[in-house]
Amino acid sequence: MSTIQKLSTKHLLGIKYITEEDIHLIFETAKNFKEVINRPIKKVPSLRDVTIANLFFENSTRTKLSFELAEKRLSADVVNFSSSSSSVKKGESLLDTVNNILSMKVDMVVMRHPAPGAHFFLSQHIDANIINAGDGTHEHPTQALLDAFSMKERIGKLANKKILIVGDIMHSRVALSNIFCLQKLGAKVKVCGPPTLIPKNLAMLGVEVEYDLHKGLQWCDVANVLRIQLERQDIKYIPSLREYAQFYGIDKKLLDNLDKEIVLMHPGPINRGVELSSDAADSHHSIILQQVENGVAIRMAVLYLLASSRGGN
Ligand code: CP
Repeated sequence: MSTIQKLSTKHLLGIKYITEEDIHLIFETAKNFKEVINRPIKKVPSLRDVTIANLFFENSTRTKLSFELAEKRLSADVVNFSSSSSSVKKGESLLDTVNNILSMKVDMVVMRHPAPGAHFFLSQHIDANIINAGDGTHEHPTQALLDAFSMKERIGKLANKKILIVGDIMHSRVALSNIFCLQKLGAKVKVCGPPTLIPKNLAMLGVEVEYDLHKGLQWCDVANVLRIQLERQDIKYIPSLREYAQFYGIDKKLLDNLDKEIVLMHPGPINRGVELSSDAADSHHSIILQQVENGVAIRMAVLYLLASSRGGN
């Protein structure tokens, strides 16, 4: 890669705060990195001498592994922190924890945190580039980028394409980041789920609501299906998972019986038998594993482009 184009921002705090041009630049860069990770030698020296801390204050499988792999493919030095085995358990504050880690000369911080806005707080207090790997129910920007990139790979430009986001919209950071990202790319977005799991103010974002799953699936080109986030539900929003699966669960028969072919996506982890049956998740409609593969290339692109804003890389 010769001349490095730059993102409009030093941090990736959310899709809301980046431009359409930023998204296209990330996609172009990710395309190049996807080629790299499919070569026999999957590593490039782009982030040699850059040290990255992955701070996970919440559980993660895909995002954590994908960032770590992306960093290693770029030859960065990587340190991992998990709150469950750290001094956070002894009462240390977020700022103290991060400042202690930064004293060890860390250049970039990838953080997942349960508090919405935790990354904004950090960005006002530290000099390192900060990447949001999920903040509570707020945003999960790299997930939205890899989702949109995967959609584009499968169905072409997203302008005027119809995307249905199905499930627990209320508690989902993936939903909000997807809405911002898809709208910036010109797609039409509807959400679908039980009324209790749809936030009341979605119309303010220009998003329509479809309560009937079958109608929603007939309308869309892509269905991005989300998990019911029981761990974030302080009260009962649905009578039972069985009833949810009956009205909003997607199986292969439902997909096969639509008038047209649609693409099925899920950010993971999947509750098999609840929002998706196994025969749907593993069917030819599904690009769920391609999403995971693209996650590494997208995260390499984000890290590379943000690191280039530091100068000297
Ligand atoms: N999609 C996603 O964020 O998965 P993890 O919680 O496993 O990182």
